[in-house]
Amino acid sequence: MVAGSITLSVIKADIGGYVGHCSVHSALVARARQFLAEHGADLLTDWSVLTVGDDLVLVMTHRNGEDNPSIHQLAWDLFVACTEVACSLKLYGAGQDLLADAFSGNIKGLGPGVAEMEFVERLSEPVVILAADKTDPGAWNLPLYKMFADPFNTAGLVIDGKMHKGFRFEVHDLVANCRVFFDCPEELYDMLVFIGASSRYCIKSVHSRTLPEPGASSSTQKLNLMAGRYIGKDDPVCIVRCQNGLPAVGEVLEPFATPHLVAGWMRGSHSGPLMPVGFCDATPTRFDGPPRVIAAGYQLAGGRLGGPHDFFADKSFDRARQRALEVADYMRQMGPFEPHRLPLDAMEYTTLPDVAKRLKDRFEPIRQTRW
Ligand code: F6R
Ligand code: MG
Ligand code: MG
Repeated sequence: MVAGSITLSVIKADIGGYVGHCSVHSALVARARQFLAEHGADLLTDWSVLTVGDDLVLVMTHRNGEDNPSIHQLAWDLFVACTEVACSLKLYGAGQDLLADAFSGNIKGLGPGVAEMEFVERLSEPVVILAADKTDPGAWNLPLYKMFADPFNTAGLVIDGKMHKGFRFEVHDLVANCRVFFDCPEELYDMLVFIGASSRYCIKSVHSRTLPEPGASSSTQKLNLMAGRYIGKDDPVCIVRCQNGLPAVGEVLEPFATPHLVAGWMRGSHSGPLMPVGFCDATPTRFDGPPRVIAAGYQLAGGRLGGPHDFFADKSFDRARQRALEVADYMRQMGPFEPHRLPLDAMEYTTLPDVAKRLKDRFEPIRQTRW
């Protein structure tokens, strides 16, 4: 642990949907807040509860560092307590992200999504928490690339001497379970070989090459890969620190002005536009979507979370929403055909292989015609 540092832990889970997979029931949010007030006082400096779609997102600050068993235990116990409420209301998929029966030291392998970052709070510390529903961790690759490596998005890469040297990206291979670092801008093209394949390679963190500053940290849990079957709830979160040698708040939000296509949407099996929305519109509805992203701003002060500020509620994202809806109309026309439906390797963990298995014996060899 770094002396005088603060840790920001963002942990999210789907504890049960209301109605279907659309949103979080207010009783769950109330229970989460009550739980943190009762059990978080000794451990946490501050906390805030957000929702996006059917996911409950805990934003917590503390002095215990990343991967701290007590913090993870607190989040786990909270999710278990909320599951009781979800069961009593018969919410949809109650406790669905709690893959294990009991907590075992670190919440990471147990279902919930986790992004954490430890840093020394600067003179002023603006932070953006991104949280998305109906998509997976690969959804952050393109926006993180734009924020920290694309001068057409981030003017500071050109203009600000503290950013000009670029950023170091940590990329995880979620299938082979290994990682690689790229120093950008020199290794941009090498990095794009991998992060362009966002179903497998995900940007885990980004660091300044000039300052001792971590810039971003994302959740990379892929439940399908963990469980070996479709459970589909990988809905990711991401922490981004801003300003003064890191991307400005506006440079962090700018990538979402062009809704990019992400994997997820209905049954975790479709490609669709990621729509930036205000908190109250984070309720994926049409075809269980389209996928949504919220941006919650916090102005930290001695670890206290000043916020959240609801960035995407701003009018300047209206056109992005309109565009996302037009793309959604267009993609939906393709129904069960690729590329609206995800390619077969991504469908491997869905219920589709079971259906295909039934038809297996109907296939017969095709005789080769020789010329
Ligand atoms: C996607 C999602 C939903 C469900 C769909 C079917 O991440 O959560 O689109 O996959 O509503 O849900 P089940 O199989 O529970 O009926
Ligand atoms: Mg759900
Ligand atoms: Mg969800």
